[in-house]
Amino acid sequence: MPSDSVLEEIKTRIDIVDFISEYVHLKHAGQNWKGLCPFHAEKTPSFTVSPSKQIYHCFGCASGGDIFSFLVRYENLSFPEAVRALAKRAGVELKVSQKDAARTGEKEILLNMHRDALVFFQQQLARNAKAGEYLNKRGINIEAQKLFSLGYALKTWDALLTFLVRKGHKAEMIKKAGLVTQGTKGIYDTFRDRIMFPIYDLKGEVIAFGGRTISGDDPKYLNSPETLIFNKGRVLYGLHRAKEAIKKTGQALFMEGYIDVIMAHMHGFSNSVAPLGTALTPEHGKLIKRFVEDATLVFDGDEAGMSAAKRAANVLLESGLNVRILSFPDKEDPDSFLRKKGAEGFRKLLDAPLSIVDFFMLQKKDRRMIAHEALETISRMPDNVLQGQYVKMLSEKLMINEIFIREEFNKIRNLSARTVQTAAPKPGLRTKTRPSEEVSLIKLLLQLPETIGKVSGVISEGDFKDVATRTIFKKIMGGLTDFNELLSTCEGEEKDFLTEISLRDDFDNPEKGFDDCIKRITGNKRKRQLQELQGKIQEAESRKDFKLLKLLQAQHQEITRKKG
Ligand code: CTP
Ligand code: MN
Repeated sequence: MPSDSVLEEIKTRIDIVDFISEYVHLKHAGQNWKGLCPFHAEKTPSFTVSPSKQIYHCFGCASGGDIFSFLVRYENLSFPEAVRALAKRAGVELKVSQKDAARTGEKEILLNMHRDALVFFQQQLARNAKAGEYLNKRGINIEAQKLFSLGYALKTWDALLTFLVRKGHKAEMIKKAGLVTQGTKGIYDTFRDRIMFPIYDLKGEVIAFGGRTISGDDPKYLNSPETLIFNKGRVLYGLHRAKEAIKKTGQALFMEGYIDVIMAHMHGFSNSVAPLGTALTPEHGKLIKRFVEDATLVFDGDEAGMSAAKRAANVLLESGLNVRILSFPDKEDPDSFLRKKGAEGFRKLLDAPLSIVDFFMLQKKDRRMIAHEALETISRMPDNVLQGQYVKMLSEKLMINEIFIREEFNKIRNLSARTVQTAAPKPGLRTKTRPSEEVSLIKLLLQLPETIGKVSGVISEGDFKDVATRTIFKKIMGGLTDFNELLSTCEGEEKDFLTEISLRDDFDNPEKGFDDCIKRITGNKRKRQLQELQGKIQEAESRKDFKLLKLLQAQHQEITRKKG
């Protein structure tokens, strides 16, 4: 990890307003800049960037930090990755620790290995008539094969292994990549007799493979395991080819399968992507939200496709995307539909997607069930106006009086608000209330560091009820009085809290504010002590321990007397 002074050096060279402006449209507002928060869905800007403090904070979702934390959250990077990126931009040289170097080294090796494997698979496809025939039969022409760099893995047990070893790769690493599997008699190629679909990250690097059997083996599709370079929940098949079209058309089409995506691109719908045989995750949603606001689910037209679409809709709505759903005739998927009805037929479907409400109406269930499920989903929408519209629409379509629907909706909403609160008391929940005297004291200590001396001995960390204020208090008392330094030692909730109070106005009369805070905190402390003593006194009385009782009463008197 680079030293603090290096981090400070990077921060002084990159202005946070310039930097964030590349991601968020910022407008001048007084001393600060404001824009729509990239981390939650909102219609009025509460995302604030302060040039004087070089921090950002969102008053909507309560997240905040500096340029490093911004990049970590926005690009889903690890902290070291963000530091590396920003150091490069700032022209600051980083001394890499050995552990970092080893990790980067290992990543490099894995990426090189995947590059080599891809070449091998592509060569084998060109040489293997059976594989080529299979793709032809499925309507994937040479052009599309090239565009998606498709390949073929031989039926033999060690073709890839031999090739990679000859290229200088170590068996141990090939195993780590999941390209070979350990058996009882040794290692063998994981992918055999399969059409190979390379999986790319956004930078265009191959990070994994998916393989479809051409001889009916089980499983039909086999994917690389998760590795240092491959995290399923954060990658979408086809995205690196689709991102321009997604930006241009203003929407992303989510499909279920690799072949669906390829077929869609072949028919001109290059804004299509798919998860890697797993359910969609909030990360997938965020990934797409970087490019557009609208997502259309183009899932298979069977029962399984419908319920997958329901789950996917909930996840994507929570990421702040507007979601619409395309309904296919039963038993059709995008691939089969496109091959039968062509681009024109698909376009027609696309022009008439179902709203969330219509989608739920399609189900063959009773009206109460439909209402309940639809409202569950509507309650996940980040926009209240939209929620209202959908609730109204639902009541019309179900022909149930809006009053009843609304009542049910409020019940569901309160319920889910509660579960969110208990399930994830994480940063981002604005409602977190901390004792105001603790918050003010931290603000004052940062505004007037000379007051620190007045606090020590009077207040200790044990007097803080809130964890974030307590931790920060401890750090300040330990000598971390510089705001930036302090911020760089904090994470998560503490960081969010710090950026928030740093944007509050300073106290006009800090001395008075300071005295008030101290009084209230010591007052709380006294109350707590007296309560404790009272308990002990009662216990001593019941045990008739008069010696102890006398002692406790004296203590009690002492505390009450000090008050004046
Ligand atoms: N999938 C998987 N493992 C399986 C089956 C499917 O990972 N055993 C994933 C693959 O990414 C596949 C997607 O789920 O592309 C959709 O699967 P499915 O609908 O079963 O297949 P199709 O896309 O219709 O595949 P095909 O047309 O090749 O039969
Ligand atoms: Mn299919």
